[in-house]
Amino acid sequence: MQNVVNYINSNKESYVKELNEFLKIPSISTLAENKKDMLAAAKFVEQKLNGAGLENVRIIETKGHPLVYADWLHAPGKPTVLVYGHYDVQPVDPLNLWDSPPFEPKIKNGNIYARGATDDKGQMYMHIKSVEAYFKTVGTLPLNIKFIIEGEEEIGSHNLEVFVSKNRDLLKCDTVLISDTSLYGPGIPTLTYGLRGLSYMEVTLTGPNRDLHSGTFGGGVDNPINVLAKLISKLMDDNGKIKIPGFYDDVLKLTKKERENFKALPFSEKQYAKSLGVKELKGEKGFSTLERVWARPTLDCNGIYGGFTGEGAKTVLPSKATAKISMRLVPNQDPKKIGKLFSKYVKEIAPNTVKLEIKDLHGAYPIATSLDDKATIAAADALAKVFGKKTVFMREGGSIPIVVTFAKILKAAPVLMGMGLNTENLHSPNEHFNLNHFHLGILSSAYFLDEFSK
Ligand code: BES
Ligand code: MN
Ligand code: MN
Repeated sequence: MQNVVNYINSNKESYVKELNEFLKIPSISTLAENKKDMLAAAKFVEQKLNGAGLENVRIIETKGHPLVYADWLHAPGKPTVLVYGHYDVQPVDPLNLWDSPPFEPKIKNGNIYARGATDDKGQMYMHIKSVEAYFKTVGTLPLNIKFIIEGEEEIGSHNLEVFVSKNRDLLKCDTVLISDTSLYGPGIPTLTYGLRGLSYMEVTLTGPNRDLHSGTFGGGVDNPINVLAKLISKLMDDNGKIKIPGFYDDVLKLTKKERENFKALPFSEKQYAKSLGVKELKGEKGFSTLERVWARPTLDCNGIYGGFTGEGAKTVLPSKATAKISMRLVPNQDPKKIGKLFSKYVKEIAPNTVKLEIKDLHGAYPIATSLDDKATIAAADALAKVFGKKTVFMREGGSIPIVVTFAKILKAAPVLMGMGLNTENLHSPNEHFNLNHFHLGILSSAYFLDEFSK
């Protein structure tokens, strides 16, 4: 182990240089114009997996963006770890709020700034480097390993889901190691044991057959934006309770133990509010902030458009209005069922003055795993060794859709060993990744392989 650790410590700078190259590739999965960049990012990953000493490295085409697979299976009798990560990133807009261009990585105050730095290129890369360190020093790994890296996490992982269900044997493993979550705070070793799910809906209302002069026609027909605003206001009450009938039916209540554990974590509502630039926090009544963001379902409008949104004023009565509405879900809510309940309720409350269209864009199942799984214990020990502190367990409000598929189809418990920070602006302008955590992440990955092999 000492040789591996020494190697990692002495290659700190070259790891950052390589990550820098990776971050230059604008692999935005949701935009058609970036299709070529997706392949370039997949090729980068392929090349680095090869260089690390892994075998059977290949790019796997899908109906969408390619997957990258690699393995090394020469430790008979030892467990198998599947490493998962994603090379795709979110769009960069609004571009004018970035201090430096999103695909020209910049190092400032110990952080590397670029889209994808923390989510998830930087975090995924840690595992490639830890494996490489083993091969360059001891020449073997203490266990069997497989990598599956995808390019569609940020758009719902549909093609990976198809692939996993058709390739159970190829991906067979004892645990799935993922670094795509956050530390509870800087320097705090953390394992995440719960992720929220998601149901993402789009509602479009159409009123008149064209945009109208709001003077000539205003008062004559209903306005789809006005109607949409009213509809949205009926989705949640003032206490933050979602009003869709049946919405809470399958929600697993927090146990007393869990509520106590959450309470024991250091958390300042005041500081949290201040860091987000709001005067007051808001959410479902009767629950603490951590409970609300980790273990309670929510409903949020992600975007709303229609009519005139440019500079200045245009007197127009719009023909159409659209809202993108997402619901974060918790165990045991089912995104498909929630999508149906949402549609049923919206149909009921929409007036006849507009035409209603509802699309279920995508979803994810929620998950909460047990804390006494062998892989979880090994990971907690590995982290504690590297960080020199006791590992903290937390849940997370975000989603990683494929995790539940891995759990169901491969019957493998995930280890969510994230090294990000929720303050690192993932999905926002000026995304960055703390380079010290990047380094500790490579060490943690190496220690985990060692611990779990025992
Ligand atoms: N890495 C995130 C999930 C995450 C967010 C973990 C924050 C920890 C903290 C992941 O890439 C992500 O953004 N997931 C999407 C999933 C969606 C597009 C289906 C999410 O949660 O919005
Ligand atoms: Mn991610
Ligand atoms: Mn993301």
